[in-house]
Amino acid sequence: TRTKVAIVGGGPAGLMLSHILGRNGIDNIVVERQSIDHVASRIRAGVLEYGTAELLKQHGLAERMLREGKPKDGTLIVWENRPDFFIDLTRWTGRQMWAWGQTYIQEDLHRALIASGAQLVHEAGDVALHDVTGNPSLTYEKDGVRHRIDCDFICGCDGFHGPSRHAIPKDGRREYERVYPFAWLGIMVECPPLENFTYAYHSDGMAMAAQRNPMLSRYYVQVPLSDRIEDWPDDRFWETLLRRLPDHLAGQVRTGPSIEKSMAPLRSFVSEPLRWGRLFLAGDASHIVPPTGAKGLNLAFSDVFYLSRALTTHYLEGSDHYLDTYSEMALRRIWAAENISWRLTKMLHVFPDETPFDQKLRESDYDLLLRSEAAQQALAHEYLGLPFET
Ligand code: FAD
Ligand code: DHB
Repeated sequence: TRTKVAIVGGGPAGLMLSHILGRNGIDNIVVERQSIDHVASRIRAGVLEYGTAELLKQHGLAERMLREGKPKDGTLIVWENRPDFFIDLTRWTGRQMWAWGQTYIQEDLHRALIASGAQLVHEAGDVALHDVTGNPSLTYEKDGVRHRIDCDFICGCDGFHGPSRHAIPKDGRREYERVYPFAWLGIMVECPPLENFTYAYHSDGMAMAAQRNPMLSRYYVQVPLSDRIEDWPDDRFWETLLRRLPDHLAGQVRTGPSIEKSMAPLRSFVSEPLRWGRLFLAGDASHIVPPTGAKGLNLAFSDVFYLSRALTTHYLEGSDHYLDTYSEMALRRIWAAENISWRLTKMLHVFPDETPFDQKLRESDYDLLLRSEAAQQALAHEYLGLPFET
């Protein structure tokens, strides 16, 4: 088979890229390792930046979000023995975020792609990239048969564990990484959520309240990396969450049996560059942020915004300007998100090796937010998400 763009990975980055290319008449194929059901069942992000919501609108994917999602004026930060703080997006940026789940976006993308006759291969085994600086091709196995796709470009949208990043030779690549000594344990529960997305600092560890819809809440607590899901029966989870929230919020939490429970280790990671010859990386394939700040999915979409613009100007206008500047441009926004995600993670979590000095700085960071309008404004802009570069 021959196509213009071969896309490795059918997560949100790969499907969104395929969708935008398809709308511009650019032939492409998505090759995904997992089944459709498996991809659809992964519970992940729930907060969309302003720019992500706009991108969905522009590409005809926002109907359900506008109907069933919830626009949000900001996010709450609460603190043991200190006043609450609201990241007031409306006040400082004039814009809103959306409470809308990655799972729903994945479903809508999938439906739109099927309706438009897009080429999606699921359950592809042993996916491999070849000759990415010359005549690129992808090979994979499906139902015992080996397949080969020749293409102009390969887009690696295959997440942190996928093969694409490794198709760049080790000496052509630089990795930056910070691994955190804790994880987030998350549960989903069929109960009405708190009004606001809420991050809670507590001397025992962070807690967080999130939401998916009027009858679906998601909660997280910081746990040691060595813990296992079996260590956290629902009773222990609720007791921990409620203790870490201030009384006025703990009293509003509606508890119930969890319908899902999962653990995610925290990591900051960037691999540079995002381009190697005819290979381009987007999303988790080239960078990971810790979940504090809700940037992971948003960053995957901003990469796709830049990459789809680069490929459409290449094919429709014959200009390679955006292809040539993709890595540099996308990385500026990636580092901004790494930065805010790290600062929020540091401020809101308890680190096992921290000193009283670290604790004083943490309190001082929070006090600055409470008192300084300049600090509030800066955080609001970073949390909302920086604008895409033109
Ligand atoms: P992915 O969603 O990882 O998609 C990559 C796709 O590539 C997958 O479908 C995978 O099956 C496929 N693939 C992998 N290897 C191969 C291969 N060899 N061949 C073919 N296909 C392959 N972000 C938030 O903002 N908030 C959250 O609460 C949050 N929770 C998260 C929880 C977990 C457990 C994880 C892992 C991430 C979470 N994230 C969260 C991050 C967010 O979900 C990701 O940033 C986002 O999914 C990135 O999209 P992506 O398409 O780049 O990568
Ligand atoms: C979710 C929301 C957040 O604001 C965040 O930082 C992490 C996860 C969520 O909705 O799951």
